[in-house]
Amino acid sequence: MKFQAPKGVSEYFPPRSRAFEWVRESLIAPARLAGYQLLELPVFEDTELFTRGVGASTDVVSKEMYTFQDRGGRSITLRPEGTVGALRAVIEHGLDRKSLPVKIFYSGAFFRAERPQAGRYRQFYSVGIEAVGSDDPALDAEVIAIADNGFKSLGLKQYHLEITSLGDLASRAAHRIDLVKYIAGLKLDEATQARAEINPLRLFDDKREEIRAFMAKAPLLLDYLSQESQENFAAVQRYLTHMGIDFQINPRMVRGLDYYTGTTFEFVHDLLGAQSGIGGGGRYDGLMKEIGGQDITGIGFGLGVDRALLAVEAEGLLKGDEFTSDLFLIPLGEDAKSRALLLAAEVRKFGHSVEIAFGDRALKGAMKSADKSGAAYVVVLGDAEIASATVELKQMSTGSTSSVTLTSLPQALSLALAK
Ligand code: HAM
Repeated sequence: MKFQAPKGVSEYFPPRSRAFEWVRESLIAPARLAGYQLLELPVFEDTELFTRGVGASTDVVSKEMYTFQDRGGRSITLRPEGTVGALRAVIEHGLDRKSLPVKIFYSGAFFRAERPQAGRYRQFYSVGIEAVGSDDPALDAEVIAIADNGFKSLGLKQYHLEITSLGDLASRAAHRIDLVKYIAGLKLDEATQARAEINPLRLFDDKREEIRAFMAKAPLLLDYLSQESQENFAAVQRYLTHMGIDFQINPRMVRGLDYYTGTTFEFVHDLLGAQSGIGGGGRYDGLMKEIGGQDITGIGFGLGVDRALLAVEAEGLLKGDEFTSDLFLIPLGEDAKSRALLLAAEVRKFGHSVEIAFGDRALKGAMKSADKSGAAYVVVLGDAEIASATVELKQMSTGSTSSVTLTSLPQALSLALAK
C-alpha cells in the first residue's frame, strides 16, 4: 500500500519549508510590532458558526466546507477562514469587555474543498489579524499598512493594493433595492437566483461572460455611500496616502465572504495568474452581533502564506542559500566527536547554526555532506587540531581559510559571517 497526501493539500518539506517558515514569520512580525497578540484557535468549530458568520450565499459555505458529524452527533466544520472563529473566541472569553480595540493575530491551516490548481489548495496556510471594537478609519489604514509591511519585508514589489468601500448597513440597503431591480432584468438559473437573493453583490463575481457583460452596467455600491461612509472612506484614503501606500479603487471588488462592510481591500500579485490574491480583508459591522456578541465593528485581514511564497519565488527573491547553516563541523575520531558536541553548543550560543557530521565517516565523505548542506563555513576537528587547540575556518564559497583558536571560534565565525 502506497499512501499519498489527500488531493489538493499544500505540504512543505526541506529545503523549501525553511522559506515557508520565513514567509510566515515575516507576515506576522509587523502585527506583533503593532501590539497584536496571539490567539490560538481550534481548527474545527460548530458548523453553524460558519454558516451564520461567513454567509450562506458564499461558495465557501455552500460548496467548500469540510463538514462532518463528530462522535457525539454534532455537526463540525474544519475552519475555512479565521475571522468568525476569532470573534467567537473574543466573545466567549469576554476579551471585548476589556480595553478596545481587541487586537489579535492567528496563523495556521484553513480548509476549503476548492478545485485544486496552482496556488489554490484544499488545505492552505494563512496568517490573519483582527482589531475589534473601534471604527476609527486610521485603524483601517493601519491594518492595511501592517499587511503591506509584511509583503514589503519579503522584498515583494510586483503587487498592488485594491480598495473599496462596501458602505455601512444603510448604504448597502439603499444600493440593494436598485441592484435587485436591475438584476430582475436578467434570466438566472435557480442556484444563481438563490445566491443573488441572499447577497446580490455576488453577481459581480460571476465568471460567466453574459453575466459579466450585464453586471458591467449594474449600479455600483460606491455610488450609494451614505455621507458618513463617504467621509470614512475618504479618511482611509487620506491616511494611506499620508503613509505612502499606493492603492487603486476597485468599485467592483467582491470578497468571497459575506460579512464585509465599509473598507474592503485586496492585495493582488501581478505574476501569479488566476490565483493572484495574496491577501485581503476589511471591516465587518454586523458580524459580532450576528454570532451572538456585542454590536461592535471590527476590521482585519488574512494573508495567504502559500501564495506569498509563490510570489517570492516568482519574483526570484530567493537565491537558495538564505537558509543554510553557518557552520559544518567535521569531527574525526571519537575524542573529536565528543568535543564537537560541546563546540557546536558554544557556537550556537552566539546564534549561529551549526551542523555536525555524524556517522564516523572519512574526511572525503564528510566534506561532500558539508558541500551538499550548503553551509557557509566548514571546520575539521581531528587529533592535530585538538593538540594545537586551533582549527582552520574554511569558507565554502571561496575555499579561503583562516586559523582560529578553538576558544575564539564563535567570535571568529561571527566576524566572518558579518563580512
Ligand atoms: P480570504 O481572502 O478568503 O479572507 O483569504 C485570505 C487569503 O488566503 C487570500 O487572500 C489568499 O491569499 C489565501 N487563500 C484563500 N483561499 C486559498 C486557497 N484555497 N489556497 C491557497 N490560498 C488561499 C479571509 O479568509 C478573511 N478571514 C480575511 C479577513 C480577516 N477579513 C477580515 N478579517
